[in-house]
Amino acid sequence: MKAYVVQNGEYKMKEVEEPSVEGNEVKVQLKTAGLNHRDLMIKQRVGTTETPYILGSDGAGVVVEAGVDCSRFAVGDEVIINPGLNWYEKSEAPPENFEIAGVPYPGTFAEKMVISEDFVEKKPSHFSWSEAGVFTLSGLTGYRALFTQGKIKESDTLFIPGAGGGVNSFIILLAKEIGAKVITTSRDKQKLKQAQEKLGYDVGILTEDNWVEKLGDETVDLVIESIGGKTFNRSLEVLKKGGRIVTYGSSTNDEITFDLRKFFYGQYRMTGSTMGSREELHELLSFVEQHDIKPVIDKQFAFSNIDKAFDYLGKQNQLGKVAVSF
Ligand SMILES: NC(=O)c1ccc[n+]([C@@H]2O[C@H](COP(=O)([O-])OP(=O)(O)OC[C@H]3O[C@@H](n4cnc5c(N)ncnc54)[C@H](OP(=O)(O)O)[C@@H]3O)[C@@H](O)[C@H]2O)c1
Repeated sequence: MKAYVVQNGEYKMKEVEEPSVEGNEVKVQLKTAGLNHRDLMIKQRVGTTETPYILGSDGAGVVVEAGVDCSRFAVGDEVIINPGLNWYEKSEAPPENFEIAGVPYPGTFAEKMVISEDFVEKKPSHFSWSEAGVFTLSGLTGYRALFTQGKIKESDTLFIPGAGGGVNSFIILLAKEIGAKVITTSRDKQKLKQAQEKLGYDVGILTEDNWVEKLGDETVDLVIESIGGKTFNRSLEVLKKGGRIVTYGSSTNDEITFDLRKFFYGQYRMTGSTMGSREELHELLSFVEQHDIKPVIDKQFAFSNIDKAFDYLGKQNQLGKVAVSF
């Protein structure tokens, strides 16, 4: 079968052996898959290893084979992949054996994938195949950051820089659904306008603007930060004293300096967040089904053109998710 792998520091399409099914595993024939920022960064992480690792964390497809011990899924079922492996219950942090599908565990950028049926869920019926293929990693990360860690309430004002991000665009949809006020930013005027139409945020400002001035007397209760070095301190400046800040990403640099004195005087509370448990995914699935929420897709590429999808995501001009179809 064809798979998109990282090998010797390069991304390439390769013919690999089809995996076999054991015990409680299912074989899923992928119909769509979704790209994440993580896929772009893997090359640096696994470096120049000889072993080809199959990339991709998000995907959706049909079960074509089920192991003898399967009880939740059977051949013909339409499913989405949960890339958050081995994390079952909601907890303060992932368990020691937590792994993310897509390097080193074989990922979704392949015609077929074998995975424990524990980490497969029924495809939401209101999702198209493309929406199903891009949903889980961003959705779950956004859900945990906003609800479990951010503890958002209807009366809160959320500040979330980077409306165009795959996770951020989804967080905005969730926050608006519960009635919170959402303030966001983007580097691009046109994208800000499109995001208003697609996501329905309340206040949008340009990344280059002076945020403190633009926000005037807005009171920000919660900040969700994922851009990192380029914006972290500026995001902290707009947060009210005693407010919460959740950080789940660093699209720019990982390392920053910040003013400790300002931080403790401000009595801010900062929490890290990473993906989420299967329990949180179940909560999220009920939420999106009940409220008819769908991920926003920017662009879709054929699997044979996945190189172009990587280039496109690398330019960081998207609004929402980038999908591939098989
Ligand atoms: N902890 C986890 O479990 C987890 C899960 C998923 C992702 N992440 C991390 O979270 C981050 C976002 O992921 P994603 O997949 O949503 O990323 P993404 O789709 O690539 O979006 C990143 C967004 O950040 C903004 N941005 C990028 N570079 C910027 C710059 N130089 N200055 C200002 N804004 C900039 C852009 O928004 P505008 O274009 O609107 O300006 C961009 O759309 C990444 O660091 C990723 O690794 C972590």
